[in-house]
Amino acid sequence: MSSLLDKRLLVVTGKGGAGKTTVAVALGLAAAGHGKRVVVCEVSGGGRVSSLAPELTTVAVDPEEAKREWLRYQLRSRTLAGVLGGSSMFQYLTAAAPGLTELVTMGKVWDLAQLEPRTGGPAFDLAIVDAPATGHGLAMLRAPGTYSNIARVGPVGRHAERIDSFLRDARQTGVLAVALPEEMPVNETVEFERALARHLDISVDAIVVNAVHPARFRPEECRRLEAVAGGSRVARAAMEAALQEHRRARGEHGQVRRLRRATTAPVTTLPRIFEPELGRHAVERLSIELERKL
Ligand SMILES: Nc1ncnc2c1ncn2[C@@H]1O[C@H](COP(=O)(O)OP(=O)(O)OP(=O)(O)O)[C@@H](O)[C@H]1O
Ligand SMILES: [Mg+2]
Repeated sequence: MSSLLDKRLLVVTGKGGAGKTTVAVALGLAAAGHGKRVVVCEVSGGGRVSSLAPELTTVAVDPEEAKREWLRYQLRSRTLAGVLGGSSMFQYLTAAAPGLTELVTMGKVWDLAQLEPRTGGPAFDLAIVDAPATGHGLAMLRAPGTYSNIARVGPVGRHAERIDSFLRDARQTGVLAVALPEEMPVNETVEFERALARHLDISVDAIVVNAVHPARFRPEECRRLEAVAGGSRVARAAMEAALQEHRRARGEHGQVRRLRRATTAPVTTLPRIFEPELGRHAVERLSIELERKL
C-alpha cells in the first residue's frame, strides 16, 4: 500500500458499478491517514465522493466542460469561443479530433498531480482519479500518447508528450483496476491489463475484486447441511437459502482464482458489505481492509 500511496497519481478504473468510486474514496482516506495531502478527482461522477468523505479535497471534472474550457483558452478569446461554441463549425472541429476530450480531461488530472499545478491551485502529494469505466478509462490514458504522435510539433504535442511520459513512469503513476467476482467483469479486467500493456507498455499495479461474498461454511458443514432432511418447511427453506448463498460465494471465489491465474498484477479482495447503500462507516471499513491488504 505504501508504495501505491507514494505515487503522485493513482488512476482507479474498472467496469461500471464495480466500486471505482468506493475504492477511490477508501484509498483517499488511507492516504489522508498517512498524512498525505490528497485530492480525489471524480471524472464524470455524480458528486458521491464528497458526500462519502466530506473531509477529503475533491475535484469534479466534467470532460465536455473541460474541453470547452480548453478550447476557450487555446483560442485566447472568450468571445470567439463563445461565438464558435454554438456553431456547427466548432462541433465539427472538436469532433474531427478524436480523443480530444480524453486528452483535455487527462491534462486536468495530470495538473492536479503536479507539485506546481499550472492552474495555480494548491499542491497535493497524491491525486486519486475516480476514472470512467474501463473502456473510457483506457481511452483517457491513451490520449496523450496518441496526441504526442500526431501533433509532434507545437505546444499541444509537447504538453501531450509530458503527460504521456508521466503516465508511463511507474514511480509517479499507478493504475488500479476494480473488478467484481463475476464472469464478465473478470474477463474485462484481464483484457484491460493486456490492453494497457499493449498500448501503453504499462502494468496494472493492483486489482481489487470488490464485494466478494464470504464463505460461511466449511466443506464438512456443507455436507452436513445438505444431509439434513425433514424438519419444518421454514427450517428447510432457511437451509436451502444458506446453501445457495454458500454456492454463490464458492462461484465468486472461483472467479477470483481465475482472475489471479490470468493476470500478473497482485489481486486482492474486498468483502461485500450488506447494506443497501454504502455510507461513511462502510467505506472506512473498506479503507482499513485495503490498507491491510495492499
Ligand atoms: N464492498 C461493497 N459491498 C457492498 N456494496 C458495495 C461495495 N462496494 C460498492 N458497493 C455499492 O455498489 C454500488 C456501486 O459502487 P460505486 O459507486 O463505488 O461503483 P462505481 O464503479 O463507481 O460505479 P459507476 O460506474 O456508476 O461510477 C454503490 O451503491 C455502492 O454503495
Ligand atoms: Mg463511480
